[in-house]
Amino acid sequence: MGSAASEFVVVANRLPVDLEKLPDGSTRWKRSPGGLVTALEPILRGNSGAWVGWPGVPDTDLDPIELDGIEMHPVTLSAKDVADYYEGFSNATLWPLYHDVIVRPEYRREWWNAYVEVNRRFAEATAESAAEGATVWIQDYQLQLVPKMLRMLRPDLTIGFFLHIPFPPVELFMQMPWRTEIVEGLLGADLIGFHLPGGAENFLFLARRLLGHQTSRGNVGVRSKLGVVQVGFRTVRVGAFPISIASGELDAAARQKTIRDRARQIRKELGNPRKILLGVDRLDYTKGIDVRLDALHELIAENRVDPAETVMVQLATPSRERVESYVQMRGEIEMTVSRINGEYAEVGRPVVHYIHRPIPRSELIAFFVAADVMLVTPLRDGMNLVAKEYVACRQDLGGALVLSEFTGAAAELRQAYLCNPHDLEDVKDKMEAALTQDREDGRRHMRALRRQVLAHDVDRWAKAFLTALSRDSVAGHSLMST
Ligand code: ADP
Ligand code: G6P
Repeated sequence: MGSAASEFVVVANRLPVDLEKLPDGSTRWKRSPGGLVTALEPILRGNSGAWVGWPGVPDTDLDPIELDGIEMHPVTLSAKDVADYYEGFSNATLWPLYHDVIVRPEYRREWWNAYVEVNRRFAEATAESAAEGATVWIQDYQLQLVPKMLRMLRPDLTIGFFLHIPFPPVELFMQMPWRTEIVEGLLGADLIGFHLPGGAENFLFLARRLLGHQTSRGNVGVRSKLGVVQVGFRTVRVGAFPISIASGELDAAARQKTIRDRARQIRKELGNPRKILLGVDRLDYTKGIDVRLDALHELIAENRVDPAETVMVQLATPSRERVESYVQMRGEIEMTVSRINGEYAEVGRPVVHYIHRPIPRSELIAFFVAADVMLVTPLRDGMNLVAKEYVACRQDLGGALVLSEFTGAAAELRQAYLCNPHDLEDVKDKMEAALTQDREDGRRHMRALRRQVLAHDVDRWAKAFLTALSRDSVAGHSLMST
């Protein structure tokens, strides 16, 4: 344990910043992709603590550094670790298995071995950076073995774990050759959090079925009524804590004149169309980008949407670009974009604008303000923060949200145009309804959505989780005392 030992440590596969190596050999830090970082970065900024994670590039040894008030502890991954632990077991085995097997998970022993080995490295790095009796909060599917490994190294710590993606139905989880090890790994935590009660209940069933532990049997509530698993003398709690965003910050940003001016300018740059449809995602096969493109294509073909007065913008951050299923999906999406434009665009006036790179935060907010209809159509998503970000940016009560029922967000955002992404006719109907909604109806829906998102922000999420965790802890201290 070094002298800089921290009382509060977040552990995630990625640091909130990625190291970028520039062509001239210099380096700089840039924001890491994905919802986990969006949610946790403001929490850590506001609660001095440390973050253990990978800086996003292979074979790079870095000393701990402080950035934006967060003490960063980089964990080194070799190129082979990246291939086997990150691209392999995390993103070609766990990711598709936990997302309803949208693509077929691959079960390879060498990937599993790398997963065990890298999880051990994260546990050791965390054991070194945490103060005596500290609280450690481990994040997501890449690190499910760390709770048990860390408990063995440091029994003095209070350990929480949160899964940012869906926890799958029991029938699917049972495919996993290392299912018992994963459940055991998670049970090293004092509190295990999921987005939805269903995930927590599936986990309780598996703890009984696979390991023979005694567990509670009733329903789990949202931020209440935790489940319990008796592991020897330890009681592990299991709960549902739907994650959120820093909605107040986004609301304030979206009111700024510079952002509103930029939103108007975006509309102008798009040719002042009557309606703008927007998609904002990591380029991932779970997000249903193909679904919304197919729906738009058919709506135009059926003369239900006029391509002369409607524009779709798809902002897609590159993601996991060396994983085969991502390469294939990118090809298919880019083909569909060109097909729609080939059939319906005019010179200088594309129907679909597609940008395959990350967009700066302020520009993204301006897009949210500019868009008439936000399309969030995942086939499966643990939460989906983009849906909440759009709502937080609409203090003007304008806009409409088309939201897949298969997102965690759909459990809270009931006033959205909810759709089944497996039913293309339903998606088309909801897109059409959102495009043609009555202004007053739209405002009423958006007001209700905003009430939900502004009241349940990410601070409330962290507070609920950490309060439940500290109630379990021997020391009984609360980190989020404000
Ligand atoms: P996931 O965590 O699976 O990527 P979420 O919707 O929960 O999905 O979170 C995605 C986060 O990444 C959001 O904060 C969103 O604003 C951001 N994001 C998504 N696409 C882009 C993009 N093209 N440019 C910049 N940020 C993006
Ligand atoms: C999702 C996952 C995160 C992950 C992020 C970006 O939000 O839940 O754990 O960090 O996607 O994916 P990447 O593979 O680039 O880290």
